Parts: sequence; structure tokens; C-alpha cells
Amino acid sequence: MTEPRWRVPLADVVVDDELVDAALETLRSGWWSMGPRVEEFEREFASFCGAEHAVAVANGSAALHLALLAVGCGEGDEVIVPSLNFVAAANSIAHTGADPVFCDIAGPEELNLDPDDVEAAVGPKTRAIVVLHYGGFPCDMDAVGEIADLHGLTIVEDAAHAPGATWRGRMCGTVGRIGCFSFFSNKNLPVGEGGMVVTGDEELAKSLRLLRSHGMTTLTWDRHRGHASSYDVVVQGFNYRLDELRATVGLVQLRDLPEENAGRARIAARYREALDGVHGLTMPFGRIGQERTSSHHLAVVLLPEGTDRDAVRAALGEGGIQTSVHYPPIHTFSAYSSAAGRPLPRTDAVAGRLLTLPLYGRMTGKQVESVVEALLGAI
Ligand SMILES: Cc1ncc(COP(=O)(O)O)c(C=O)c1O
Repeated sequence: MTEPRWRVPLADVVVDDELVDAALETLRSGWWSMGPRVEEFEREFASFCGAEHAVAVANGSAALHLALLAVGCGEGDEVIVPSLNFVAAANSIAHTGADPVFCDIAGPEELNLDPDDVEAAVGPKTRAIVVLHYGGFPCDMDAVGEIADLHGLTIVEDAAHAPGATWRGRMCGTVGRIGCFSFFSNKNLPVGEGGMVVTGDEELAKSLRLLRSHGMTTLTWDRHRGHASSYDVVVQGFNYRLDELRATVGLVQLRDLPEENAGRARIAARYREALDGVHGLTMPFGRIGQERTSSHHLAVVLLPEGTDRDAVRAALGEGGIQTSVHYPPIHTFSAYSSAAGRPLPRTDAVAGRLLTLPLYGRMTGKQVESVVEALLGAI
């Protein structure tokens, strides 16, 4: 066991007997690499999302990389992506050979991409738009869809924050052409490392399956069962496979996801009630309409302008409360400084004020109150 450094960690996982028993059963089965449990996880995840196809992969970054390759992104292309995002999206674009083009957010209330700025960023080389549903709040998929239709662009959803969130009744990840999920430990569906790509397009699904496993036409699991004895390699692929143990954890977590999301929603509502508009703090996404529901991946507050965020974080940390920042905008990183050509004033304006508070389904009322009290005290 690791030492519990935080009284209130940023994220937490539930380890119950069901999870441990399921993991032991998989270990005892003697088949650990990709096989029947991965297939079952894919079927159940597809069914949860209402997607035709789900392809399990090693992590969310691999999901994005494969999705971008499958939709044809490569050298000479540009892909539009919000700078206020995890760097994996930009890295995945770059690894296809394409160039990321950063777009701005709508504003401090709506930390998702600004459709007008996406439109402004479209050029002759644009091939795709990677949208993020920031913190689990779906971005305006109607507006992005119109831009994509007008210019013949593909929408890739980075739904890492958004399993279970919906846009006009459809699950995030299934609204665009292809959707990518992460099952990193701090996500709503934590596995440790893992990811999933969902799509309604059979050709894309085929291509994803090939690219996931070296471009080979059969799997070790097929050969083990005697369903195949050899293979061809038809594209130059990767080893981005998920293994059986993590698929087992994923299956248990998927069953718990609705309860996890409901718990997060309750805690997010309490944060909003206690913090929004108090002492100059604001909580973004205060006015979300009927068209979307959130999976509440992150509890983000905007500190009053001029606040020393490091000092606030240090004060909370001293009280055993872990915080984070989602995200330092990608265009501010050294590796992307040369791609930082477009002005992103709204991203720049909120970047220094963002603070992420602890949020997970089983957070206790006492923990929430201690975070609220510590934050109000610190500012
Ligand atoms: C928005 C977003 N996209 C992509 C990723 C990459 O996922 P992973 O860490 O599983 O590679 C993450 C995870 O941290 C994320 O938060």
C-alpha cells in the first residue's frame, strides 16, 4: 500500500471484493494478454455508449493516435484542437505527421472550444477537429458539426472526461465520427492504464483493430484457440493492445460508472452551491441547458483575478487537500511554442485562474465541506 499523503486526494478508486475476486479469477485463468475479457469489455462499453463498435486499447493517448490515423490524418494535414486540453491530443496529432492548430475556448463560463474560433482556424490543409468535452461537459456539437459539414472535416471526440455524458441524448464519443476514452486512474472509469475507441463506422473499426496489433490479420488469442495458425501484416501498426486483467477491472468499473457519475454530480452541485459567486470565485458551466448532461469529471473553480494560485494550492496542500490545474494550455509548452501562432485570448485569460478541486463519487460530505472551508479560508 502506498502511504496516504492526502486527507482528501484529487481522485480515488474503490477496491471492493467484487473487483478483487474478478481480478483473481482472470489471473487464475492463465490467459493474460488480449482475449475474451477484452472482447466482453468492448461489447459492454459499446452497449453502454450506444456505439456500433468499440475497440479497447492500451490508454487514451493510443486511442487518439489510432483514431486520427484511422480517419486519415497524416503529413501535410492540420488538425484543430483546443489549447485548453491535455497534451495527449496535440502529441497524438503530431505523431500522425499532421500539425495541431490551437483554437480558443468560448470563455470563463464555458471552457469548451469556441465554435467561431474553430471556424476561423479552418484552412486549406485542415482535415479534422479534435473536440474535448472539458471536465465532462459536452462542447457544442451542433455548431462543430455544422463547421465540419461545411468544410468536409472529420470530428474526433476526445471523450476522456466524458463517459456517460450526453449531447442531445447521445453519449459523448458517439456524436462525432469517432470517439476516444481514457481509463487512467483518475478518470470516472479508472483501470490504471487503458482506453477505448468507439465508432459507428465498420471500416474505421477494422482499421483500428489492425493498427492496434501490429497490422496483423490474426491475434495470438485466435491462434491459441486454433482459429488461425498464421497471419499476414497488412499495415505498419503498433502494440496498443489492452490486456485481460485491465479489461476485467474495466468491466467492474463500467458497471459502477452510473453510480460513480451520480455521486460526482451530487458533490459538484454542493461545490457550486458553496463556492460559486462567493469571495470572487466562479464555477464554470453554471448555465448548461437541456441539450447536455455532464459526467462531472472535474470540479474546476476560477480564482479571483490576481490570486496567487500557488499560494492557495500550498495552503490546501498543508491541510491535506490535493488540487491540480486542468490544464496549462498546450500552446504554452516548449514543445508547442512554434505551433502557438494564433491568438488565444480567452484561454490565456483563464489559464492562471484555473484550480481543480478533489472530486470522486464516494467523497464524503465531510471531505467536501473541508475542501470548501479550506478554499474559502485560503482566498
Ligand atoms: C482530455 C484527455 N485526453 C487524453 C488523455 C490521455 O489518456 P491516457 O492518459 O489514458 O493516455 C487524457 C488523460 O489523462 C485526458 O485527460
